[in-house]
Amino acid sequence: MRQAARITGVGRYLPEKRMTNADLERMVDTTDKWIVERSGIRERRIAAAHESSSTLGAEASRRALASAGLEPADIDIVIAGTCTPDGMFPATATLIQDAIGLRDAAAFDVNAACTGFLVALSTASQFVSSGNARRALVVGAETMSRIVDWSDRDTCVLFGDGAGAVVLEGTPEGEQGAVESFLLRSDGSQADLLYARGPASPNPNGDVLNSMIVMDGRSIFRQAVTAMSNAAQEALTSAGLTADDIALCVPHQANVRILKATARNIGLPEDRVYVNLDRYGNTASATIPIALAEATAEGRLSPGDKLLFVAFGGGLSWGAMVMEWSGVVAQPAAEIEQVGEPATTS
Ligand code: ACO
Repeated sequence: MRQAARITGVGRYLPEKRMTNADLERMVDTTDKWIVERSGIRERRIAAAHESSSTLGAEASRRALASAGLEPADIDIVIAGTCTPDGMFPATATLIQDAIGLRDAAAFDVNAACTGFLVALSTASQFVSSGNARRALVVGAETMSRIVDWSDRDTCVLFGDGAGAVVLEGTPEGEQGAVESFLLRSDGSQADLLYARGPASPNPNGDVLNSMIVMDGRSIFRQAVTAMSNAAQEALTSAGLTADDIALCVPHQANVRILKATARNIGLPEDRVYVNLDRYGNTASATIPIALAEATAEGRLSPGDKLLFVAFGGGLSWGAMVMEWSGVVAQPAAEIEQVGEPATTS
């Protein structure tokens, strides 16, 4: 039986350790002024040695389940977006599944770099709307600090760690709060603009393995603005809406200048774009669900509001989704979140 998929729980978890731009000034040839002016980032969180994408994702998942008023056993499928999995296998989603005490559910990862959460959410919405799953747990979890070259000022100032999760539930079509449209795109011919090699990469010369992020920032910037603007516009058109109908855009956040240019291109006022990049940097798959949980906790969303998600990342991959906010999240995320008093690295 076909049904609508709507979000009924949200959660986020950020590691306690905070790395400021001042900390980075002591590590590479950069300045707080350059980082803020060129990217909008002021600080980011860094996972502790005992943490990983699965532990961050599990904590965000517990909070999302609590906010939905559900038990782990209520979940049929766990999909994790991550490009920094705990290992090559098993899937980080299975580690999250085990950590939250969930048995007998499907669990797998999707890797679409910074578009990972949008791909995971779109996939989960297909399981739910087709009736193959009653409820899905969709996670974005990243430890980007583990694949950043901390001597490369071009990239190390941009990324951070964290996780967010949502519960997606089936509801009869016509009820408030449903995915209204989504689109996913990719272009593998431009993979070399942004990548991180892995232990299974081709290595004909037997080089020492290096899995650090390599990025052509200027090209990526231009592509991101065009792709995010076009994807957002296309998703709006598919939903029969315009930017005027959107109460809040929750985007993937790599650079505040990309967000401003995208908002301008689609005619969306900047105060309707949720931005927390200044505090967390680019957390890849985790950015959208962290931002959604924060927006919910801050009371930025009301039942019936139209939401726009849009993302771009390595692949290249990009996409957008339009959804109505259900307003049935049982507990506001703020009441169940205890993000500890941050400690600086210095
Ligand atoms: N501190 C000081 N100077 C710096 C730093 C730094 N941290 N980094 C670079 N510079 C210098 C460069 O060397 C360059 O110097 P030059 O002019 O002497 O050559 C100068 O600053 C300007 O460099 P640009 O690359 O032109 O700077 P730009 O304004 O493009 O900003 C940035 C760079 C922030 C990386 C931007 O291009 C960007 O945000 N790109 C997109 C990132 C993105 O969207 N990633 C996708 C998602 S990530 C994923 O999918 C995993």
